[in-house]
Amino acid sequence: MVDQKQIDSQPQYIDNPLTRAAAFLVLTVNDGDEAMAKARSVVASTGDLIKDVRIRSLKNIFTANVGIADRVWDGLTGGKPKPKELKPFQEIKGSKHTAVSTPGDLLYHVRADTTDLIIEFEKILLEAFGDSVTAVDDVAGFRYFDDRDLLEFVDGTANPAGLDQPFSTTIGDEDPDYTGGSYVVTQKYLHQLGDWRKQTTEDQEQVIGRTKFDNVELPDAEGDAQKSHKTLCTITDDQGVEHDILRDNMPFATPGKGEYGTYFIGYSRHLWVTEKMLERMFIGDPPGKYDRILDFSTAVTGNTFFVPSRGFLAALDD
Ligand code: HEM
Repeated sequence: MVDQKQIDSQPQYIDNPLTRAAAFLVLTVNDGDEAMAKARSVVASTGDLIKDVRIRSLKNIFTANVGIADRVWDGLTGGKPKPKELKPFQEIKGSKHTAVSTPGDLLYHVRADTTDLIIEFEKILLEAFGDSVTAVDDVAGFRYFDDRDLLEFVDGTANPAGLDQPFSTTIGDEDPDYTGGSYVVTQKYLHQLGDWRKQTTEDQEQVIGRTKFDNVELPDAEGDAQKSHKTLCTITDDQGVEHDILRDNMPFATPGKGEYGTYFIGYSRHLWVTEKMLERMFIGDPPGKYDRILDFSTAVTGNTFFVPSRGFLAALDD
């Protein structure tokens, strides 16, 4: 028998299967109590807005997740205590590359197999927000051949599956007020595709840590040797336990402007896990031996949000 607590702590649509398309809509809430109150009521109604759109095309997958950033947590929740790890995205300055921190109070991660549903949802949502928010970014992601990113490697392979997935992405008893919630980190990367293409396939494979054609893992580098992206993003704690995150990266492009990129999105139960990955990528392990993916990819945004359970979201307007 399902009880009310389980219903309230049901996660948003984190376990969505990979879709053909997605939108990453980042908003800031405008100044003033009126804007905050309006934003709060629209965020609370997200579940209903999803239903309004989904029913119109039942044969297609359609979901949306909303994340709330540290800056507007108090205003949007009426001063509820913060999830234990919630804080603004911290800039990470490495010897050569920087993980920048950029404005963003709300994230809508909208997923569907066709863009009509995504655009329809965004249109209705933004009409509801009216002038209470400003859209600071809106990226349309598409699924490239064989689930590859625009560096042409299969992306998403090592994602947790089965029971590992909720275990890695949703908060349990460690933060009882926020059971069913998740931290999400996003970064928009622009690729220097011309430079990447000049590398041999073997060199590209060393950067990623997998073979390009058939997506097979390469052995980890020993000692202080240059580590691949895959190895730098493998996080093991002091007890030898490996901690995963769930990624749903999407390629995006505007070929006429020469713009090709990857929108990174990572859901996690513990924010520190994603932060550790970023530290290892940008600072390096050992320091200086940063992730070589960054020599061909520039992070132009960086945000952290909390994706509360469906019950928490709906109760915001009570
Ligand atoms: C693995 C691409 C940024 C975390 C991979 C793989 C590719 C890839 C091709 C190997 C296949 C797979 O397991 O998915 C990219 C690109 C990025 C990017 C193109 C942006 C330019 C990031 C960031 C993080 C991250 C910012 C975390 C903060 C991971 C993790 C793995 C992975 C956890 C799996 C490691 C394992 O094998 O256990 N990425 N990635 N990636 N990436 Fe990224």
